[in-house]
Amino acid sequence: MKNFIFQNPTRLVFGKGQIAKLSELLPDNVNLMLTFGGGSVTKNGLYDQVKEALKGRNYMEFWGIEANPQVETLRRAIQTGKENNINYLLAVGGGSVLDGTKLIAAGIASEHDAWDIVMDIVAEKQIPFASVMTVPATGSEMNGAAVISRAETQEKYGFFGNYPEFSILDPEVTYSLSDHQIACGLADAYTHVLEQYLTTPGQSRIMDRWAEGVLLSVKEIAPEIKKDPRNYDLMADYMLSATLALNDFIRMGITQDWATHQIGHELTALHGTTHGHSLAIVMPGTMSVLKEQKKEKLLQYGERIFGITGGSEEERADKAIEMTEAFYRSLGLTTRLSEEGIGKETIEMIARRFNERDASYGENKNVTGDVTREILESCL
Ligand code: NZQ
Ligand code: ZN
Repeated sequence: MKNFIFQNPTRLVFGKGQIAKLSELLPDNVNLMLTFGGGSVTKNGLYDQVKEALKGRNYMEFWGIEANPQVETLRRAIQTGKENNINYLLAVGGGSVLDGTKLIAAGIASEHDAWDIVMDIVAEKQIPFASVMTVPATGSEMNGAAVISRAETQEKYGFFGNYPEFSILDPEVTYSLSDHQIACGLADAYTHVLEQYLTTPGQSRIMDRWAEGVLLSVKEIAPEIKKDPRNYDLMADYMLSATLALNDFIRMGITQDWATHQIGHELTALHGTTHGHSLAIVMPGTMSVLKEQKKEKLLQYGERIFGITGGSEEERADKAIEMTEAFYRSLGLTTRLSEEGIGKETIEMIARRFNERDASYGENKNVTGDVTREILESCL
């Protein structure tokens, strides 16, 4: 196990009716701006709940942060925030609204252009922010990451900064998600664990077991959610699984991969593929191309998650990859580029972009543009 410092400062406020606590969770005497997406919160009643909870407080609202939040939109929010001396933000929405809000928080605290903040990778300073999270998927409610898109250049990059001061997670808010959103959210959470688990063997038993616990939970609840997406206890487990998949708890002292995410971001930037869906397409390819490097972990994963014990090592590793793709498909997602009309041209473009930026992703920093080409070709 490598040395590490662990500190996750987000206060997680979980459960039915917790949105009513908003006002007591927010500090007094702040110049507050609420941030929203495109309007799902007005349709499912969340906006009214938030308004009710904030009765008696003054605040501004910024609407229109799109899925895969765009820097072009966020620049406007930063401008509005600066003009109104905003010093606290509350994101009400999914990962995109919260990620966008993380950049707004950095932009308000900085003189630099918002895209430069993203490209600097770590934000120097941010005003404080919190969230009411409406999509179980990204873990953004309890981590310091944000992923931002730039429409004019079709780019998508992540940056890091502070964690939300608090996040309210009410599983009832998920009842309005579409089947596709749920499928993408489950795929995202599952893949987050794989990015942190399917790496160097023998680093930490406790991290392995913890990661496997999340994988098994997501795998177990997924088919049940399909049948009963308004079951409170199921959605509560789904929501908490997504948070635990990417809130630093399962990555203490271990190496991490994230190549699949980097490649998936390109598919989203170039084709608008929903984030979780992009991972369902790329992850089986990453596993296949890096099978030798990941073999020991693949065998452990295959045995502990899918009960694969028979056959040669090669057969067992292949079976684990096959079962992973089958799991994504069982969610209702396609897992092949060709099924999404994405072909060689895109593969070449991504390989070229990665080579140009001298990319070397993955736990062993060996996923270059050329390896990425191989991965994507195996996803066709
Ligand atoms: O914009 P509105 O109208 O609110 O609609 C949204 C959006 O269209 C809708 N929605 C949100 N909550 C809903 C709802 N519809 C019905 N009922 C609800 N309760 O869902 C659509 C998608 O929302 P979005 O926020 O984009 O989804 P998600 O939470 O999956 O976020 C995806 C973004 O997060 C990034 C992704 O790259 C992508 O940009 N990620 C962020 C990470 C992080 N911060 O750590 C890590 C992840 O790997 C990921 O990269
Ligand atoms: Zn993700």
